[in-house]
Amino acid sequence: MKFFIDTANIEQIREAASLGILDGVTTNPTLLSIEKGPFKETLKEICSIVKGPVSAEVMSENWEGMVEEAKELSKIADNICIKIPMTKEGLKAVNHLKSINIKTNVTLVFSPAQAILAAKAGADFVSPFIGRLDDISHIGMDLVRDIVTIYNNYDILTEVITASIRNPLHVIDAAITGSHVVTVPFAVIEKMFKHPLTDIGIKRFLDDWKKVEK
Ligand code: G3P
Repeated sequence: MKFFIDTANIEQIREAASLGILDGVTTNPTLLSIEKGPFKETLKEICSIVKGPVSAEVMSENWEGMVEEAKELSKIADNICIKIPMTKEGLKAVNHLKSINIKTNVTLVFSPAQAILAAKAGADFVSPFIGRLDDISHIGMDLVRDIVTIYNNYDILTEVITASIRNPLHVIDAAITGSHVVTVPFAVIEKMFKHPLTDIGIKRFLDDWKKVEK
């Protein structure tokens, strides 16, 4: 399973990259709105830190506008992947971008039907938002399971990015389900490190080490 970070924060991306766990980055307008400086500069810096795909979202609502934005964003770096909303216009843009070899990530996917259409249109990635489904009392991970099953049934090459992750259990469930990618907020990555028995074990070894004759 590929491991992406879901942030536009340079420090967080540098820290995760230094851990050797990072295969890519996903950003969105909300995440970019938190950061200082022109967004294209931020994306450029992110692309210089991480070799894998860096998702950057288009904001136009018609396909022609999306394609123009995608072409501009693609100039930032070779590893930019264009995030496209799951709409009819969005899938027209995906279809066109595929023909000119620009990679796409169809975002705001909330049903298997949407994921089928995105794959048919030629998306490289689809992003089901599981946390937002959990928030409204639907089981987000069921959606990931359905999409992975459907794609596997037909050897579809579109990769599933489990997104809108809220906790480490989401990451574990995504891995068990066979999601190709998870995109994880920094705070959740920090939580993944933690286990009380690890902390207790380290303390005990440190205490006992003091008693060892040197
Ligand atoms: O990449 C975008 C997605 O992960 C959004 O997450 O927490 O805003 O639902 P959230």
